[in-house]
Amino acid sequence: MKGTFAAILVLAASSVLAAPSPVENGPITARAVNAAAACATPVTLSGNPFASRKVYANKFYSSEVISAASAISDPALASAAANVANVGTFLWIDTRSKIAVVEDGIKDVPCDQIAAFVIYDLPGRDCAAKASNGELPVGSLSVYKSEYIDPIVAIFKKYPNTAIALVIEPDSLPNLVTNSNLQTCKDSASGYRDGVAYALKSLNLPNIAMYIDAGHGGWLGWNDNLKPGAKGLADVYKAAGSPKQVRGIATNVAGWNSYDLSPGEFSKAADAQWNKAQNEKQYVAIFSPELKSAGMPSQAIIDTGRNAVTGLRKEWGHWCNVKGAGFGVRPTGSTGNSLVDAFVWVKPGGESDGTSDTSADRYDSFCGYEDAYQPSPEAGQWNQAYFEDLVRNAKPAL
Ligand code: BGC
Repeated sequence: MKGTFAAILVLAASSVLAAPSPVENGPITARAVNAAAACATPVTLSGNPFASRKVYANKFYSSEVISAASAISDPALASAAANVANVGTFLWIDTRSKIAVVEDGIKDVPCDQIAAFVIYDLPGRDCAAKASNGELPVGSLSVYKSEYIDPIVAIFKKYPNTAIALVIEPDSLPNLVTNSNLQTCKDSASGYRDGVAYALKSLNLPNIAMYIDAGHGGWLGWNDNLKPGAKGLADVYKAAGSPKQVRGIATNVAGWNSYDLSPGEFSKAADAQWNKAQNEKQYVAIFSPELKSAGMPSQAIIDTGRNAVTGLRKEWGHWCNVKGAGFGVRPTGSTGNSLVDAFVWVKPGGESDGTSDTSADRYDSFCGYEDAYQPSPEAGQWNQAYFEDLVRNAKPAL
């Protein structure tokens, strides 16, 4: 993560995200005590898969959180932090070696829950930035298919009785819309399209619901980006054979935009007149019909994992470890919006967006900006101080 796009200078104005959903927390032990059984028969998903299912709190993230909470000396903060271990999040399969934890994220999922993963290992990954450059070089599409997607599919096929939600390849297709001037994105383009199409086709199992990443309002929400953005996604969806289990899009993944702050955070910026998607609710309202007319399903899930506090970014396009952020609305399938299947926590809060070490290979200047928390470790690595801030600034409180 993350691509860049039109960005604007803004006067900091602190506001609070409205909290449309109930809190789904309980004591850390509740999961074991209440653990319901897995489904007894195969799951076939149609309609909103989150309507009657809670996102599963995978052990990978909950153990990161439990050890982080136990390192906090202030008892009130420690207990608030421990509550995060019960919140369902997406597990990022960001390397081939991470496939080893997939089974752990799926084998104990109760029938009233849904396991959630991010497919994230395209060749030439993160073509418009450096922080999340991946393990596979441009041109290694066959490795992506046979050593990444195929083994994941094989694991999922072993668990037909488990509901699974997937976010497909954050940033990739949006980058091809807005950053196609960059040589790196030009080089990655065909691998992204073919790779995403292959993923959609291969992962099209009855117990899986897929959401293709669609950036956020400050990215594809610009008037000029809406149609090309929708076409870019729909073309790949169609190239995959219009798979039945694609439900629509994921927005604000690892992002910071408010769901419904109005007027929007950057609505006073000089170029705001060119963007009617000043919050994610507006973005979905505008982008979803475009997708539909481009021939793609258009339900959305929105990442509210770190969007509790607004007014933190100097520019809309700042994406790295934004300082002062807080955990946002807890995952829920009750969104009060027929276009939005769920508010979800896709980015596991506490895991870094990118290193602030200027000597690192994957150092990206966005992670050195004034509004980026420093020091920060490599993307995906745990940042204890940042996690504690997310807990302190959570809205609703944890
Ligand atoms: C990183 C991944 C990580 C993910 C979730 C991305 O920015 O590149 O390595 O798994 O964030 O923290």
